[in-house]
Amino acid sequence: MGIEQTFAIIKPDAVKRGHTGGIIAAIEENGFTIKNLKKVHLTKAQAEGFYYVHRERGFFGELTDFMSSGPCVVMILEKEGAILAWRDLMGPTNPAAAEAHHLRKRFGTSIGENATHGSDAPETAAFETSYFFSCFERIA
Ligand code: RTP
Ligand code: MG
Repeated sequence: MGIEQTFAIIKPDAVKRGHTGGIIAAIEENGFTIKNLKKVHLTKAQAEGFYYVHRERGFFGELTDFMSSGPCVVMILEKEGAILAWRDLMGPTNPAAAEAHHLRKRFGTSIGENATHGSDAPETAAFETSYFFSCFERIA
């Protein structure tokens, strides 16, 4: 599979509840290298742009209100097969369906407020990374 990069977010619920450190510890314990990281507070319009693929979904308003409700932490993670590995560590979208070791079970509280985001394919990882990081920041 080879070394790959993915894009990750510690969502506003987890930042607000003091789980940034716990999530970063789990990232490092699971062998990811954090290539870059920063804290950002999205506007509603920026959240809508980020999640534009979901614009027709019923939860779009709720999702973009939530994602712009407070600061989040955005990261570029690197590892062998990073895209799938990060999705595996997060677990399913709904924390109620996750297992004990999954980040969304440990730190999420509902299907909407599920603590973390991860890209689901190389194309989305490229789009999402470039939404937050310039080319110089991506090779740090
Ligand atoms: P993400 O994009 O945030 O990593 O999550 P995901 O792939 O597991 O799930 P996705 O289908 O892409 O949904 C994006 C985010 O929208 C919120 N959501 N709310 N209320 C609902 O039924 C519902 N469904 C999804 C979640 O915050 C989900 O992570
Ligand atoms: Mg998704």
